[in-house]
Amino acid sequence: MTANSAQIRKAVIPAAGLGTRLRPLTSITAKEMLPLGPKPAVQYIIEELHSAGISDIIFVVSSQKPGIRNYFGDSTCDGQVRVSYVLQDVQKGLAHAILQAEDAVGGEPFIVALGDTIITSRQQTSPISRLIDAYSCNPAFASITVEKVPMEDVYRYGMVKPVAQVSTEAFEIDGLIEKPKIEESPSDYAIGGRYIFASEIFDYIRKTPPGALGEIQITDAARLAIADGGRVWCSPVLHGERRYDIGNFKTYCEAFAAVCMLDAELSQSIVSAAKDSNI
Ligand code: G1P
Repeated sequence: MTANSAQIRKAVIPAAGLGTRLRPLTSITAKEMLPLGPKPAVQYIIEELHSAGISDIIFVVSSQKPGIRNYFGDSTCDGQVRVSYVLQDVQKGLAHAILQAEDAVGGEPFIVALGDTIITSRQQTSPISRLIDAYSCNPAFASITVEKVPMEDVYRYGMVKPVAQVSTEAFEIDGLIEKPKIEESPSDYAIGGRYIFASEIFDYIRKTPPGALGEIQITDAARLAIADGGRVWCSPVLHGERRYDIGNFKTYCEAFAAVCMLDAELSQSIVSAAKDSNI
């Protein structure tokens, strides 16, 4: 198998979760639509996808959350990105959510960008553009954005097993495990909520039994693909980049502050508000 020549044009954004950890805010709006500074959170993901050449976005949504569809309609980025929607009304896990997009993806490699994960970057290249390079420049079945995390946090993530020494360049893995115990984790590199898969991943999802949390996990589907000879590369988050899961109040507030701090004008307001002793 040689490097992949197919262009990546489509991205799936799973966004059907009910945002229970962000109640009561998520009784007003979907968590992906919560503001981060001047824009809804998911808009930052869409802009990053658009600048990496993606022209088709498929949202996986719940019929209980009409806000995303009401906001984006059928296109965004000045009409340059088509937006469509598939439903996941039963929450059976991330892989099950991705499976709902099978027909819309239509047999080509595609990105998965978790709708509640924002990656801020001061790098010249975006995490998604490097993820595309990791997929395109290697004989890859999949590529995954990864981030180093403290070992005491590994139970929150999918953790990867590098084949050899890792570097800031893309590296290959030969194993991955969802939400391991600390002693089971093969490294301190966590899956960071951005993936590219060959379309055969849908066949592996169908064969994947429920795993961690009783859910059908994409990490387990990717492991089945590796067992069948599929090769998976990881693209690390770099210095000057940070990943935020906006699914709880602490990290949502951190993401809000981080996004504002990257904006010259808003950062001044945040700094002076923080200095104001009357707060
Ligand atoms: C999901 C993935 C996990 C990944 C994480 C990143 O978990 O299953 O592999 O590390 O996102 O945010 P969740 O946060 O939905 O439990």
